[in-house]
Amino acid sequence: MISYGKQFIDQSDIDAVVDVLNGDWLTQGPAVETFENDLKTYFGAKYCCAVSNGTAALHLTGLALGWQPGDIVITSPITFLATANCIVYAGATPDFVDIDSITYTLDPNQLEKKIKAYQAKNIKVKAVIGVDFAGYPCDWKALKQISDMYDIQLVNDNCHALGASFNGNKQYAVEYADVAIQSYHPVKHITTGEGGAVLSNDATVDEKVRCLRTHGMTKGSNQLINNDSPWYYEMHEIGYNYRITDFQCALGSSQLKKLDKFVQKRREIAKKYNDLFFNNGRLIVPETANNINHAYHLYPLQIDFEKLPYTKPQLFKEMKQAKINLQVHYIPVHTQPFYRKNYGFDVGDFPVAEKFYHSSISIPMYPSLTDFEVVKIVNDISNFVKSK
Ligand SMILES: Cc1ncc(COP(=O)(O)O)c(C=O)c1O
Repeated sequence: MISYGKQFIDQSDIDAVVDVLNGDWLTQGPAVETFENDLKTYFGAKYCCAVSNGTAALHLTGLALGWQPGDIVITSPITFLATANCIVYAGATPDFVDIDSITYTLDPNQLEKKIKAYQAKNIKVKAVIGVDFAGYPCDWKALKQISDMYDIQLVNDNCHALGASFNGNKQYAVEYADVAIQSYHPVKHITTGEGGAVLSNDATVDEKVRCLRTHGMTKGSNQLINNDSPWYYEMHEIGYNYRITDFQCALGSSQLKKLDKFVQKRREIAKKYNDLFFNNGRLIVPETANNINHAYHLYPLQIDFEKLPYTKPQLFKEMKQAKINLQVHYIPVHTQPFYRKNYGFDVGDFPVAEKFYHSSISIPMYPSLTDFEVVKIVNDISNFVKSK
């Protein structure tokens, strides 16, 4: 079966993990700090705190930025549930802004309209989470201008875009957003099994995230009310165990060395897909632009099923028989029963996102996909589209 995404692990990754397993520290040891330093260097962040997964990174970001009940936080409906859920974790109120039909990322014009509509009701939007969907960076210049103009916190859910660049800059995530978060789940560009990180240039955010990563415990002498013994620690607010292990971080550091190669391979595969699907009038391939370098976490292919005599589930079924596993990213978050029931969203609220959902499929995309497999995927999909 050809899956839609898959990790790439080589002997140097295995050796790095085995080294840690043979050492003294399985968790809370030096490999965590090394991975954090490696991430800081690659992504140009002053601070980085590695955590147990991307969802934990989002959760702690909301808490560190002080989101609370009554705050409005806006994100894209085309994202994984976790991006919106972290707003709910903080007790804030989630809202959405539709995507741009070409980039599939948050539409800055729609965002400004929504912020103004809130302003007219005397409500200030607290934060915006842009999602670099599929590996295509949001229009961060526009988002930053809006966030500066309306004094709104800006977060980059960067999970899909490791190794992407915006205006020639691979370190754009932390340059434009106040906080960037990442996930190292096996389908992402680099993996630690489960894992994530919060990156920023803000010492206060980093200190808070670090403290909340370990139960809210602090031993920092400037924060302690009492400090009468060497074992002494205090807890001033509720935190979590969102730590990541040393062997995961050793894998992360080893994987990070290969990130550029992984992304290059994904771009080569995307180019083959683009070339082979070219001229098929029934398909829309993902766009790119001169000012961005796509990281192709996903390759969302759009098919206008409404004009065809067969459905998306039928295509899925046939491709499964042909041993190709397709996926869909994502069911628009606002249409989930939880968001409809608790926040009053409904089908039809964000038409561009919904249209994208109905037409898109994610076809296999990972560095070890072979030329033979790429051709088979293209042929099987093209033949199916043609034959009906
Ligand atoms: C856009 C986005 N945000 C957040 C997450 C959450 O990351 P994790 O699975 O590591 O918790 C994911 C992972 O799928 C994601 O794709």
